[in-house]
Amino acid sequence: MDQNNVKNLIMQWLEEGIIVLDKDFTITYYKPASTEITGFDSDEAIGKKLFEVFPHLDSNTSTFYKVITTGKPVINEVQNYINYKGKSVSIITTTVPIYEDGELVGAFEIFKDLTNMRELSEKILMLQNELYSKKSGKNNKISNGTQYTINDIVGESRSMVELKNRIRKLANSGSPVFIYGETGTGKELIVQSIHNLSNRREKPFIAQNCAALPENLLESILFGTAQGSFTGAKDRPGIFELADGGTLFLDEINSMNLELQSKLLRVIQDGVIRRIGSSTTKDVNVRIIAATNMDPNVMLEQNLMRRDLFYRLNVIYLHVPPLRERKEDIPLLTNHFINVLNRKMSKNIKGVTKEVQQRFLDNEWPGNVRELENTVESAMNFSDGDYIELKDLQNYNILGQSPSYIKYPIGEIPKDMGLKSAVAEYEKSLIISAIEEAGGNCARAARALKIPKQTLHGKLKRLGIKCDYKD
Ligand SMILES: Nc1ncnc2c1ncn2[C@@H]1O[C@H](COP(=O)(O)OP(=O)(O)OP(=O)(O)O)[C@@H](O)[C@H]1O
Ligand SMILES: [Mg+2]
Repeated sequence: MDQNNVKNLIMQWLEEGIIVLDKDFTITYYKPASTEITGFDSDEAIGKKLFEVFPHLDSNTSTFYKVITTGKPVINEVQNYINYKGKSVSIITTTVPIYEDGELVGAFEIFKDLTNMRELSEKILMLQNELYSKKSGKNNKISNGTQYTINDIVGESRSMVELKNRIRKLANSGSPVFIYGETGTGKELIVQSIHNLSNRREKPFIAQNCAALPENLLESILFGTAQGSFTGAKDRPGIFELADGGTLFLDEINSMNLELQSKLLRVIQDGVIRRIGSSTTKDVNVRIIAATNMDPNVMLEQNLMRRDLFYRLNVIYLHVPPLRERKEDIPLLTNHFINVLNRKMSKNIKGVTKEVQQRFLDNEWPGNVRELENTVESAMNFSDGDYIELKDLQNYNILGQSPSYIKYPIGEIPKDMGLKSAVAEYEKSLIISAIEEAGGNCARAARALKIPKQTLHGKLKRLGIKCDYKD
């Protein structure tokens, strides 16, 4: 294989931009990011000094400066600046020193446009702000940001009955709750039920997935910003302030970096927050519920979570058992989803055949209740009788085989098929296996693949993979 050709191809498809410079800050290589946020191409950049090309940077703000002077990498830094079009843009950068024979000779930086993500998260905050500050027109009831109550939790297995009893008992205490359950076990349902059973139910419920945003962005979403704390920053509250009096659900807390975890611990202990860049503090009264789909023991062992924060949050611990450990709930849940979907799809399916029931009971359900729900929905699309039959099950996990559109498993792509097709096949297998591992959840698969969800949707469409999966 021609390595130069491969490198060129990779560069062509890479969304990120790359800058390489020597230790005098002279740019020696430049590849724009796919969104062309800088506004110049490589001919205009190569040979020039960094500060000439990026006049907004100085020795305090430049990550290159930091890396060249300290000799250490700076990873996943979010930077905000006004670009050549006068637009406030956000980029995430990783900057790494280059050593030759033990001597620092330069550095490279990989950067990616985050503007859309920042604008979207700010828009969500603004909408949440509006939602909670207004009374919703018709019945003058405050909408609290939830859609589930305890009545939506289907399950009569011993473990689920016990769990529901505990939820009723703990709902009114303001103590933090820590929930562990595999993906798709119903954590969101449980958290919202707790809020709606508590005396905080008239106040906002706000959920934030800690894995969805890069650190600096997450920090400003949590705590808010004061005007001028970075270029383009507005004076606005974070979700701690918005959730005042209510419940803040921090999902996938193990994805939060340790530094931010210690800031979170301080806020929880002191009960006061300070917007980033602000000199004043404000009291907040927020009940924190944190969740992970990773075993807390593993999480602590791998140092993904600070012990002090874990003990502070783990005042009440709930474990949501995987579906395979409460198989008696499978028939109940199956009928529940059929009823809900009958209404939605204007169908009149009465149930599943004995064979399907058995297949459902035998299945391991790695994607838990979500996977069962998706399987039922998929089968209902194909069913033309009163009962869902084996032939209606198109879902690959339940059939115990790979979907027909995977031609080659990862690592078994024939060498002679040509680079372009091989790369496409490899990409396809990676995407499908990520979706399988995510139990059919596209957002989760996108995160595992480290690509934006929209990009994954685009790729699925381009690869001709029909997708009924949930986001
Ligand atoms: N006990 C249940 N009764 C009815 N529906 C359920 C139950 N458990 C889960 N579901 C449904 O399954 C889907 C997944 O549930 P949920 O989003 O709460 O899972 P999760 O544990 O938060 O998963 P993840 O870790 O992937 O975020 C939802 O559509 C939810 O309505
Ligand atoms: Mg969830």
